[in-house]
Amino acid sequence: MTDTDLPFDADTLNAKARDHLWMHFTRHSSYAQTPVPTIVRGEGAYVYDVNGKRYLDGLAGLFVVQVGHGRRELAEAAARQASELAFFPLWSYAHPQAIELADRLADYTPGDLNKVFFTTGGGEAVETAWKMAKHYFKLVGKPGKHKVISRSIAYHGTTHGALSITGIPAAKEMFEPLVPGTFKVPNTNFYRAPEHGDDLEAFGRWAADQIEQTIVFEGPETVAAVFLEPVQNSGGCFPPPPGYFQRVREICDRYDVLLVSDEVICAFGRLGPMFACDKFDYVPDMITCAKGMTSGYSPIGACIVSERLAEPFWSGTASFPHGYTFGGHPVSAAVAMANLDLFEKERLNQHVLDNEAAFRATLEKLTDLPIVGDVRGDGFFYGIEMVKDKTTRETFNDEESERLLRGFLSKALFEAGLYCRADDRGDPVVQLSPPLIVGQAEFDEMEQILRSVLTEAWKRL
Ligand SMILES: Cc1ncc(COP(=O)(O)O)c(C=O)c1O
Repeated sequence: MTDTDLPFDADTLNAKARDHLWMHFTRHSSYAQTPVPTIVRGEGAYVYDVNGKRYLDGLAGLFVVQVGHGRRELAEAAARQASELAFFPLWSYAHPQAIELADRLADYTPGDLNKVFFTTGGGEAVETAWKMAKHYFKLVGKPGKHKVISRSIAYHGTTHGALSITGIPAAKEMFEPLVPGTFKVPNTNFYRAPEHGDDLEAFGRWAADQIEQTIVFEGPETVAAVFLEPVQNSGGCFPPPPGYFQRVREICDRYDVLLVSDEVICAFGRLGPMFACDKFDYVPDMITCAKGMTSGYSPIGACIVSERLAEPFWSGTASFPHGYTFGGHPVSAAVAMANLDLFEKERLNQHVLDNEAAFRATLEKLTDLPIVGDVRGDGFFYGIEMVKDKTTRETFNDEESERLLRGFLSKALFEAGLYCRADDRGDPVVQLSPPLIVGQAEFDEMEQILRSVLTEAWKRL
């Protein structure tokens, strides 16, 4: 398609966007002088803007588009389902698409995580998990257990409950008071380990033990759940040290605290397996997931629960008074099934496992740049931390961060043809999470664009 074929007029769209569209997590004043970046179509690992310019989608939209853009199979699955049954709720009724998808997800999960509560997205799945944990403990005669532990800088969503679990003070302070009863423990950022910085396993034990300390300090009879991502996104891709999740599992069992694996990003092949807990060999009590389940062709999320947890809800007069009109939407469920068919047909999970080392090695070439302090992550999910001084690991002050990230990097990377994320919710990082269909050619393209833009950023400091 050439510029002249495009069905959109860039100026008209831009004027309407400025006048009416409230974008999420967006500083609108940034677009007072420059046009709102507007993406109109996608194909494979690439998206195209309103002017016809092409970008490598280095973030799979927002950790979502696993199978890539423009997949007709998924569009057709949505159209077929909308013609057959566009909508019916899961409020005491069922439809085949939700039934089949729940059955399929239960096959993919480890252990006895067999009961699937559908939502429309990740934050709702987290919200559901917390409410379910509280309700479960009331049903089994431990009504005091309601508190939640999560990690510093972790992002778990924006609804009041999920935001309370989120560990990013700047995302929360304007909404206080939030839901009481949430407590934060250190994350697994080994690059900035406050203890055991020379021993990954000891650091992992220390980080897990912080969870135990918090449970004991708060009183085990008051703590319901621990929410952890397999690889923490916010802050820049913190993988778990070896043994970390095994120790957390033991601690949770010791104090009857539920372990929630928040896999909103990490599930559906992002790290290789369908569910990331399998990669790190632990079995949680609940998994929250969303994004990649449909590769974004229609919204859906889920809280997947163990038989043990579900048992008291399955007997007597109990029912969980919670739901969403669009939770488990038939069109989304049908799209999810078609998406998972593509995963299997194209062996995407194995593709990630086969290529993760090459992706890492390509990105690690960037460590020869003075601004690149650390490259970390797993699967097709990486964070590149930028520093002012590689030897001391000194980071940027607020003014430098503002100038570097907001003023230069995000825009420059995009202008150079790479859509990814420059994030300073923790220390400044660039994050990459491309569609799972990419290979060495796209790894190289990401590396080359990053190399030239990060080199320029260093000169401007
Ligand atoms: C780990 C995690 N949990 C929850 C959420 C919230 O998901 P949603 O934006 O679909 O509500 C996100 C979103 O990125 C996430 O990364």
